[in-house]
Amino acid sequence: MSSRLYDWLDRRLNLKPVQRTLLDEPIPGGASWIYVFGSVTLFLFVLQAATGMFLALYYAPTPDHAYDSVRFIETEITFGWFVRGLHHWGASSMVVAIGLHMLQTFLYGAYKKPREVMWMVGVVLFLVVMTFAFTGYLLPWDQTAYWATQIGINMVGTVPLIGDFFSRVLRGGEILGALTLSRFFAIHVLFLPAILIGGIALHLFVLRRVGPAGPWTDDRASLASETFAPRQVYMDAVVIAAVFLVVATLAFSIPLPLTDKANPSDTSFVPVPEWYFLFYYELLKYVHGPLEPLATWVLPLCVILIMLFWPFIDRNPVRNPIRRPAALGSGLLFLFVVFGLLGISLKNLYAVPRTDPAVAQGRAIYAQLGCAGCHRIHGEGGAVAPDLSTIGYTRPDRAWHLKHFRDPQSVSPGSFMPKFPLTDQQLNDLTSYMLSLKRAT
Ligand code: HEC
Repeated sequence: MSSRLYDWLDRRLNLKPVQRTLLDEPIPGGASWIYVFGSVTLFLFVLQAATGMFLALYYAPTPDHAYDSVRFIETEITFGWFVRGLHHWGASSMVVAIGLHMLQTFLYGAYKKPREVMWMVGVVLFLVVMTFAFTGYLLPWDQTAYWATQIGINMVGTVPLIGDFFSRVLRGGEILGALTLSRFFAIHVLFLPAILIGGIALHLFVLRRVGPAGPWTDDRASLASETFAPRQVYMDAVVIAAVFLVVATLAFSIPLPLTDKANPSDTSFVPVPEWYFLFYYELLKYVHGPLEPLATWVLPLCVILIMLFWPFIDRNPVRNPIRRPAALGSGLLFLFVVFGLLGISLKNLYAVPRTDPAVAQGRAIYAQLGCAGCHRIHGEGGAVAPDLSTIGYTRPDRAWHLKHFRDPQSVSPGSFMPKFPLTDQQLNDLTSYMLSLKRAT
């Protein structure tokens, strides 16, 4: 800004003190690339807000129109697919950014006295972001959205005493339907942004009161200090630009999944949650029967409480991670479990038998016979018949497919799917291909 304009404004608005609080905040030990993740998270929130506003221009939060409005955004609106892509990948990136921000804070022991309150507000912000993700997932109202949300709400229902009440509040009744959708929409676009903005303001207010933590050295007196502007501002801006480029590239190059429209009566559909909930989805697979509540609420509640009150559990004033083996060890163990489960889950999901020649053969038959004229797989093909992207999950039974291919009407009375004259070998290959289709994208 030209200095004359600045002086003119300053004489009227008294800007100097504002500049001092915003830009001249001293950072002990100076600017660093490791401090950028808070700003990156904030930027991604702004990106989510901006893209969300544009999506809201066309999105209709009712079961009759939600799916079609998302499809409309994808196919009819100029750059609608791109804005939806930015919002989708922006959400994923926000989870990554906030995770790295927390990791840095943890590693540097920056949550320790006097910054306990800042950490606690941060944990709440993290939970709000995860709630954003959970409520946003339902909005496209496709099969995945519907059944993944069903699982989530059922989990809430397993909490004793209050669970039933809360799951009914979330659903807006006994069934997941119109009220649930409008409720999730309102929470996603009105309640959560308000809470998040308030929380961010509080987080930054506390930061201004206690100041940045700086490096973990004990010898605080010897630390040189540097103001936030210009070098930290520059570093933040560089990383923010890079993150935006990555998000835009992902949005540009990877088409987003949209499975079939939600069908509440198709209870056989097996949804796949977003990658950041996958580790948890994997965990749920291992616990059954009386142990189930352990995974559906006891463990998550314990982890959340431990995270929230961590500054009071780890009271060791030392900040150097090498000299805090217990804290570092528990942090690493936590990451190991989460990423281990995520790894197993991804492996199961993406373990497509690429080398299986029967699958390749089946894929060729699928192309030859023009099945794509009616069916869609991973976004390609017609829409008059069921989307087959995840048919390997929803119908894992080989015999069913063979019977269905030989005579569709015998399994689905009234089906207009034609019979194809195929040999047993061809039928088996086609079925192998069907069974290999397990993922939504
Ligand atoms: C003329 C349109 C049409 C063509 C072509 C067609 N189908 Fe279908 N298909 C349908 C319809 C309609 C259904 C739903 C009723 C049923 O289950 O038969 C269906 C159902 C299916 C299902 C069961 C889906 C489910 O979720 O239950 C599979 C699997 C399937 N088709 C595979 C194929 C394959 C493989 C081909 C190519 C060899 C093919 N279809 C060609 C119309 C078609």
